[in-house]
Amino acid sequence: AEVIIVPSAAAAGVLVADEIVKLVSARPDAVLGLATGSTPMPVYEALRSRLTGVDVSQVRGFALDEYVGIDPHHPESYRSVITKEVVEPLGLDPDRIQTPNGALETISHAGDDYERAIAAAGGIDLQILGIGTSGHIGFNEPGSSFASRTRVKTLIEQTREDNARFFDSVDDVPMHCITQGLGTILSARHLFLLAFGEGKARAVAGAVEGPISSSLPGSAIQLHEHVTVVIDEAAASQLE
Ligand code: F6R
Repeated sequence: AEVIIVPSAAAAGVLVADEIVKLVSARPDAVLGLATGSTPMPVYEALRSRLTGVDVSQVRGFALDEYVGIDPHHPESYRSVITKEVVEPLGLDPDRIQTPNGALETISHAGDDYERAIAAAGGIDLQILGIGTSGHIGFNEPGSSFASRTRVKTLIEQTREDNARFFDSVDDVPMHCITQGLGTILSARHLFLLAFGEGKARAVAGAVEGPISSSLPGSAIQLHEHVTVVIDEAAASQLE
């Protein structure tokens, strides 16, 4: 992977936003892979000013994951987050931006449906990734198969605690999620892995330099030939 150490999360946002602008300018119907959580927010913020004047009417996007059984209108559903942080401020066409469907009634085939939709779009051109303190990418917790595709997973306790800040309490964080698999993520054409802060240093070192192992799912990026890791000094502090 190419590792770029930036002075701040805002600088990372600008760097990745510039890549997205380049991509969309060259390919108006580019397919973006959209992460949620805190990490990608500086990218979406930087895009606000940079996409003005760029035709985004054809841009397509696929979120990485969604909670299972959450009301899609719940403010912390990833559908809501993507709508509020990406679709609306950037003026994207909501019908072209998909999130995995976490509704219980259709959950048995929601993963396959999502894979079909990504394939029908021609695959993801540029995938934005954060990384969890457990080393997860998407919600592929330790033990996830490198061949996995979009499916339902159980969130580990650490991840529910990490995400409790978005809810009233940790008990309100859903137990299950539907996430692109590691195989799905590896099928994207260009991966951007972002991480900021000391708390991510161990996961970053494992992903970039550690043994390729399902016990640190982010290490799967070492199997991809086009990865750009954009991190601040603190997140880089455990790299050799
Ligand atoms: C989000 C996702 C997760 C997060 C990771 C880091 O769609 O799939 O892998 O990227 O949990 O979360 P933050 O950025 O909130 O530290």
